[in-house]
Amino acid sequence: MARKIVVTSALPYANGPIHIGHLVEYLQTDIWVRFQKLMGNECLYFCADDTHGTPIMISARNEGVTPEELIERVHGEHYDDFVRFGIEFDNYYSTHSEENKQFSELIYNRAVENDSIAKKTIEQAYCDKCKMFLPDRFIRGTCPRCKAEDQYGDSCDACGGTHQPTELINPACANCRTEPIRKKSEHYFFKLADYEDRLKELIEGGYTQTSVLNKLDEWFKTGLRDWDISRDGPYFGFKIPGEEDKFFYVWLDAPIGYMASCKNYCDKNGLNFDTLWNSDEYELYHFIGKDIMYFHALFWPAMLMSAKFKTANKLFVHGFLTVNGQKMSKSKGTFVKASTYLNHLDPEYLRYYYASKLTASIEDIDMNLDDFLLKINSDLVGKLANLASRSAPMLNKKLDGMLGTLDDGGKELIGKLTAAKDGIVKDFEELNYAAAIRTIAGLADESNRYFDGKQPWVTIKTDADGTRATLTAVINAVKILTIYLKAVLPVYAGKIETFLNVESLGFEDVENVLENHKINKFVRLVERVEKEKVNAMTDESKEESPQQQAEPTVTLDEPLEPECTIEDVMKVDLRVAKVVLAEPVEGANKLLHLELDIGGIRKNVFAGISKAYKPEDLIGKHMICVANLKPRKMKFGVSEGMILAAGPGGKDIFVLGVDDGATPGQRVH
Ligand code: 2FM
Ligand code: ZN
Repeated sequence: MARKIVVTSALPYANGPIHIGHLVEYLQTDIWVRFQKLMGNECLYFCADDTHGTPIMISARNEGVTPEELIERVHGEHYDDFVRFGIEFDNYYSTHSEENKQFSELIYNRAVENDSIAKKTIEQAYCDKCKMFLPDRFIRGTCPRCKAEDQYGDSCDACGGTHQPTELINPACANCRTEPIRKKSEHYFFKLADYEDRLKELIEGGYTQTSVLNKLDEWFKTGLRDWDISRDGPYFGFKIPGEEDKFFYVWLDAPIGYMASCKNYCDKNGLNFDTLWNSDEYELYHFIGKDIMYFHALFWPAMLMSAKFKTANKLFVHGFLTVNGQKMSKSKGTFVKASTYLNHLDPEYLRYYYASKLTASIEDIDMNLDDFLLKINSDLVGKLANLASRSAPMLNKKLDGMLGTLDDGGKELIGKLTAAKDGIVKDFEELNYAAAIRTIAGLADESNRYFDGKQPWVTIKTDADGTRATLTAVINAVKILTIYLKAVLPVYAGKIETFLNVESLGFEDVENVLENHKINKFVRLVERVEKEKVNAMTDESKEESPQQQAEPTVTLDEPLEPECTIEDVMKVDLRVAKVVLAEPVEGANKLLHLELDIGGIRKNVFAGISKAYKPEDLIGKHMICVANLKPRKMKFGVSEGMILAAGPGGKDIFVLGVDDGATPGQRVH
């Protein structure tokens, strides 16, 4: 009987782009979901953007937009990236939704009713200038261990150590650089320890892979602590019922977003949410990365238990992505955004490559870029596509595109390919995609050897029927391998289905031999990967060094950039800006630090104009600024805009000034 399954992937934060690290999880999940569908099961895949919290609130502020505007834009960008990578959600929703608010309140109210919430007064860092409590990541200072400057409140990028924000030397608010004070406030805590026995029971019942049990055991040994589920305003999130300025912590409503996405799907499709989400009729699986295991193995099931919802059948936990054996790096160009990848390479390459590396373990997977090139060209192009491209065109050109019947040799080959089905199915089911891909590539080798041994390009001259039998076997091998690979390579499989002239294939078609059947014209399946394209992708991903960003040396002799459309130009929001502060930047050659007033919004800008202008001459002046430029982190701070200036550089650079009577913030057309 067909299974009914609900699947989720972790919700990406709505303040940054999808990158190839994220894609490990979405591709792993999408392949599993597609595999289930190909097995004839009903499988629904839900996800959403994770939209709440301080970082999103601050990002929006820095961009000069509302959080709602920011998350709406990012939702579109994320969704486009996913679609282009063939990730097929049944619903891609948002945690900033009415359904999510209602479920969050319901789950919280039930926790209150069953005495799982405690109130405690705690003391935290507070910025008196920004009028907000500061999360650890928003406090910067000197590392107490290695003395590296400008480190986060919880960890040091230079020495890798962790610390408390109170241990930082010269702590400062990351936003305004003021020294934080300590301030008390009352918070709500979820009493996690009350659920210890039930959580242990859940985990012993196979809730996670065995490889993560040690970590969980460690947490139980350390003791489960009460979990702070509230944050003081200003905060972008849902208000706690009965409170005026306290909000649910983003991690409370984030996993509830899985339910909200499911509910929204049910409502749109006339389905019963309780049946899909909360009954034994449907299995439920969450795919997550190992960094968020604590939330999904402890907090989330405990919240569900408290609210009397069922917990998932299993958590599937995966490791991180490394590139060329190292953490993804902006300076090395290996921190590749999904959209940058797509500018250069076919998304199916990445689907295949990740599948060839993924196992059920939580070990990190490495994307070695040379290996990537090799694997695509040797396996995907050289073995799989090659089998089709050497057999189908020959059948079309010389034998009217008509398949015959299998001879004994053909039956033996197809018998071997068919016999591999159970093993491949098991490997996909158990997330051992790498093993499945190895088997499939081995079967493609065997089929190519069969082709070579039969030499149809020779026999075609004298033995049409024998050659037809050979090609019938090889085309059937192509069909079976396509079914095995279809969850990984949906576009490639679609092209093969078209030229095979068959309906959409599934695992039940493995045993149906195609005989006496007319195939269609062959279509090219997949191109070889060129090293230059991989290099172009990493080049585009390299973050310019601050020096390059700050002090451009554009000369008039440079060729023009590629054309842009009027729509591109319209995206640039030009505003009148009044210079309220101008000062030299210590250690910088050409930079001035400007503080601009653009109609009540203040922006910090670093401009390479110090050779041409004295700071004191600029104060009070009006100029034109690109107000919606994405903030860039530079060596000397974050630059949040750009003033318009022209000229070859040095002393010869001219700021585009405007009449001092102009109003700051006024739009310029
Ligand atoms: O770690 C993250 O990227 C979170 N946005 C994941 C949330 S998963 C779920 F709980 F919503
Ligand atoms: Zn501040």
